[in-house]
Amino acid sequence: MTSSTLSDSIDILHVSKHYAQQGGTPLAVLDDISLRVRAGEFVSVLGSSGCGKSTLLRLIAGLDTDYSGDIVVAGDKVRDTSLERGIVFQDHRLFPWLTASQNILAALRNAPLSAREKREAVAEHIDLVGLKGFENSYPHQLSGGMAQRVAIARGLVNRPRVLLLDEPFGALDALTRGRLQNELQRIWEHERITMILVTHDVDEALYLGDRVVTMAPRPGRIKRIVDVALPRPRERNDPRFIRLRDEVLADFAEHDGARREPRNERAGHDDDEPHDGTRIPVASPPITEWRLAW
Ligand SMILES: Nc1ncnc2c1ncn2[C@@H]1O[C@H](COP(=O)(O)OP(=O)(O)OP(=O)(O)O)[C@@H](O)[C@H]1O
Ligand SMILES: [Mg+2]
Repeated sequence: MTSSTLSDSIDILHVSKHYAQQGGTPLAVLDDISLRVRAGEFVSVLGSSGCGKSTLLRLIAGLDTDYSGDIVVAGDKVRDTSLERGIVFQDHRLFPWLTASQNILAALRNAPLSAREKREAVAEHIDLVGLKGFENSYPHQLSGGMAQRVAIARGLVNRPRVLLLDEPFGALDALTRGRLQNELQRIWEHERITMILVTHDVDEALYLGDRVVTMAPRPGRIKRIVDVALPRPRERNDPRFIRLRDEVLADFAEHDGARREPRNERAGHDDDEPHDGTRIPVASPPITEWRLAW
């Protein structure tokens, strides 16, 4: 992926984050995270539940500035939110009282555009995510996948140079999920913006990412960075893809190995959702076990 004028690089430099806990010691959530994301790159961040993935995206978005270290986007330290950094949250967070078009339009309220330009931008993004004909539907009239597409359009409509995606397909069935992964890849190739996708799903991370960053939990830190040097569109049955998947899964099996008999994945908070990839087991062993294994 070559760098492009439409995208920004992101430098995460020794970022650590604690949350205050009532009457207790602060909870260390991120520990010394350093990562450089190139302009126009697609990076997947993979980690088990609670390892700090959403927290990291919130810091990059500028939604939370209470951390140590620096986050620098295109040479400027992040101090606040910016229209140049779009975010798609774990749940779609559409306004239920607004139509699909109105939800996208709402994201443009601070954009320096005329009313006509805003209408055109909304129409263009409805088209981009394949929702023509559903402009006037309310969220309750849309399927889960369609609502997520509205959320992606809303994240893109300000023409951000960076798009942060927090498990945007987590709640979708396997077929819809696969379709939206392809759509996201098409948009990324078309728009050439820098994307960071957070996911639990090893297949999804490898299918979409130029690189996959795996995180270890408690506190969240980078465990490994895997280059996915495979041509797109990727073939999930390609032996090279399978080898990479096995490598990444082996990392996670380190902490899970002793507990595989019997498998206890359903203790995880959302592992019962349908999916088409291989999820990282999200059962929570005692903290000491995680510390020893990771
Ligand atoms: N506002 C908050 N106040 C206190 N603790 C928080 C807050 N937000 C998150 N945490 C804690 O920080 C840790 C990381 O949370 P985070 O939401 O970043 O995890 P995650 O990797 O996104 O998990 P998931 O995959 O389940 O979405 C968790 O232990 C969580 O309880
Ligand atoms: Mg999260």
